[in-house]
Amino acid sequence: MNFILMIHRYIAFVLLFLMVFTVLYVFYIALNRHQKTEKMRNFILVMISLLHLQLIFGLLLTIRYLFSLSDAGFSFKEVMGNAAVRYQALEHPVMMLIAIALSTIAHVYLKKSAHNKKAAFLLLIAFVCMLGRVPLAKIFA
Ligand code: HEM
Ligand code: HEM
Repeated sequence: MNFILMIHRYIAFVLLFLMVFTVLYVFYIALNRHQKTEKMRNFILVMISLLHLQLIFGLLLTIRYLFSLSDAGFSFKEVMGNAAVRYQALEHPVMMLIAIALSTIAHVYLKKSAHNKKAAFLLLIAFVCMLGRVPLAKIFA
């Protein structure tokens, strides 16, 4: 199972860089109506695949983590009262779920039109959500 945690961390590393690039790229295409869009579409497809893969691993990690908490005898109140535990068990998973949902919605918009400004803003918000509750220190440890 630590294997999954390792993969989750590697994908996180790749995703953060890819996300910065994709957000800039999507804004660039949204603002330059005459630019070709094929490359951008490929980037966003890779990003969405990685995000969804990350989602699967993340869900497995969450299940494992919640079981380990319950084995250790944590009550709901103790989980909520402990900042580090609350971060891993709740804040990180929920914020990442929101980020992944927003990115997927953006991707659906971009399939209709690659020059979609709304999609660019959704991706930006998703990226901010991600940055807000990703353990950056662990990625770059
Ligand atoms: C919990 C599991 C998953 C859920 C709930 C989920 C959900 C979704 C949704 C709602 C879409 C939007 C459909 C659309 O673009 O019209 C989508 C698209 C996509 N998903 Fe997932 N997904 C999951 C797992 C995965 C996995 C494991 C992969 C592969 C690595 C993946 C790759 C993709 C790709 C490539 C697209 C874009 C497809 C396209 O452009 O038409 N997803 N997914
Ligand atoms: C954008 C996507 C995501 C990124 C960039 C990301 C990044 C990370 C990173 C860097 C860690 C620390 C890894 C380590 O300690 O070595 C982590 C842990 C964790 N992630 Fe994610 N994550 C994402 C999505 C998710 C999702 C969608 C969920 C759950 C639904 C999730 C659940 C967890 C859990 C439960 C842990 C703690 C696991 C443990 O320590 O046992 N993550 N994540």
